[in-house]
Amino acid sequence: LSVRPARRADARAVAELWSTLVREHAALDPVFGLRAGAADDLPAAVTRLLDDPDAGVWVWDEAPGVAGFCAAQRRRAPAATRESQRIEITELVVCPSARRRGIGRALAEAALAWAAERGAPRVEVRVSARNPGGQGFWRSLGFGDFVDVLDRRL
Ligand SMILES: CC(C)(COP(=O)(O)OP(=O)(O)OC[C@H]1O[C@@H](n2cnc3c(N)ncnc32)[C@H](O)[C@@H]1OP(=O)(O)O)[C@@H](O)C(=O)NCCC(=O)NCCS
Repeated sequence: LSVRPARRADARAVAELWSTLVREHAALDPVFGLRAGAADDLPAAVTRLLDDPDAGVWVWDEAPGVAGFCAAQRRRAPAATRESQRIEITELVVCPSARRRGIGRALAEAALAWAAERGAPRVEVRVSARNPGGQGFWRSLGFGDFVDVLDRRL
């Protein structure tokens, strides 16, 4: 497997993959689109994640660059709840030409292993109802319905 933790030198390549993810989501639903100029901030956002002890970022190394990335963050629960923390996988994308080769699964498994190492009892992911590929992917990894986020466009 060619999954490894991301390094600062990967920030630009990861930001490009992140742009791909956002573009694909914006095509599914304009709500996911970025404001003008925001894509330029993505490399710095990647660096902030790399500096965050409560975040993990992994890439799939494939010459000449990286063919996918995954990011996860620890979320602390309110003090009164029985659950003290959970991990949220916040981003996962594989470059379109490298899909259906197991790269997404390998990246998600790296995040799941990281969550288990931290003693998290549960991992969450938010998937658009308009993203059948993402839905099929996460369900194939054993993720199931938890909370339906409903919205109403005004
Ligand atoms: C979702 C995504 C990360 C999957 O990456 P991938 O490397 O192609 O996935 P894998 O090859 O590891 O697939 C593992 C399994 O997931 C399921 N799966 C993957 N893509 C699927 C799709 N488009 N439709 C239905 N099931 C899918 C299959 O069961 C697959 O196993 P199989 O190929 O043996 O049938 C990739 O399609 C992607 O980057 N999509 C755009 C971004 C996105 O939607 N990210 C998720 C946001 S929540």
